[in-house]
Amino acid sequence: MTVQRVLTGITTSGTPHLGNYAGAIRPAVAASRHPGVESFYFLADYHALIKTTDPLRVQRSTLEIAATWLAAGLDTDRVWFYRQSDIPEIPELTWLLTCIAGKGLLNRAHAYKAAVDKNTADGVDPDAGVNMGLYMYPVLMAADILMFKAHSVPVGRDQIQHIEMARDIAGSFNHLYGEHFVLPEAAIDAAVATLPGLDGRKMSKSYDNTIPLFAPAAELKKLVFSIVTDSKAPGEPKDADGSALFELFQAFSSAEEARAMRTAFDEGIAWGEAKQALFEHIERAVAPMRERYEALIAEPAQIEKHLLEGAAKARAIATPFMSELRHAVGLRRLTDVARPARADKPRPVAQPQFKQYREADGRFHFKLVHADGHALLVSEGFATPREAGTLVTFLKQGGEFEVAGNGVFVAGERVAELAPDVVAVEVREALAALAA
Ligand code: TRP
Repeated sequence: MTVQRVLTGITTSGTPHLGNYAGAIRPAVAASRHPGVESFYFLADYHALIKTTDPLRVQRSTLEIAATWLAAGLDTDRVWFYRQSDIPEIPELTWLLTCIAGKGLLNRAHAYKAAVDKNTADGVDPDAGVNMGLYMYPVLMAADILMFKAHSVPVGRDQIQHIEMARDIAGSFNHLYGEHFVLPEAAIDAAVATLPGLDGRKMSKSYDNTIPLFAPAAELKKLVFSIVTDSKAPGEPKDADGSALFELFQAFSSAEEARAMRTAFDEGIAWGEAKQALFEHIERAVAPMRERYEALIAEPAQIEKHLLEGAAKARAIATPFMSELRHAVGLRRLTDVARPARADKPRPVAQPQFKQYREADGRFHFKLVHADGHALLVSEGFATPREAGTLVTFLKQGGEFEVAGNGVFVAGERVAELAPDVVAVEVREALAALAA
């Protein structure tokens, strides 16, 4: 079984919410337990610097997200769990990739284009407020992915373009410098929920409609009760499809529980009652994790230790790979002998060959074989290997011979014959190639 490498990053600029948990953390922790999968999960704190200049927020978010993954049951012995900024090879690789990434490619990145479009609509300079981090975001992300030769990158739909750019950049690098990178693919799991938020739109920090994953129970209850519903009275049938409340309920219940809730909707369950049930189901899933989470948050040194161990494990891959890549692009010690790694250098071409052998009758022969393997010339039998060898050297060095019929003559003596269907010019060409 070939091992599949799965890798994904989590930007450390916020507090994990229920949507992050159901949409990313929970499926990732489950996937990491499959045999035949090597999982790489990391805290993308370099990416966070693009979104925020608040140092405390970056640090706090890193702590919270790390604690969340550990509390959710991530087994750090099985997976590679690390903080991006602990791997200096990542920014180093980012530079190598920057030097081959087309500017035009990055001009087309959705996030950058959206910023430019907004500026244009607002009548200000197209690049107003755009930092180079936002512009280079896809290249840093490509380095994250390519460094660990990930096959599959589970991401949300908004990130698909970034994975395609990583593929693109990897392809260019491989073309220029030889096959160093695996071309990654985005993995979009249709079965994985995108949760609605309090207002029914996708749960997202940018809509300010989230339910923090580890809100204390009382706050969780308050937030659940603030979920927007229609004004149908108790007893009036309610439509489960299209109900944010029902969708959230589904994400935290078994199929059977969800079926029962659908029936309750049909039968006109009161919104308050449905909200109470939702709260209880979320609390059931979250409470044990919340306890672990709080214990972890209280001991940052413990989390730090996990991360540093993870970094050492990741660097055991990144450091040697980076030195291979440095060599490939020509960042070499002056005493290093060039390895022929560049794809644009002529590859060693297959050459015609002389083969010497002994026949059953005890006599010594040689053959001249075309680069593609078919015989061009077969010698007479000689009494000693030395006689055969002398003739081979003579022919290799461009010594003169004549061809008459299918016979090959040196100084009037028949020494070999052309193989069936071979013409003299083929032999001369092969010998010329060998002499060159
Ligand atoms: N850009 C991703 C996000 O915001 C986070 C990320 C950074 C990432 N590097 C990555 C995801 C590499 C997958 C692979 O969601």
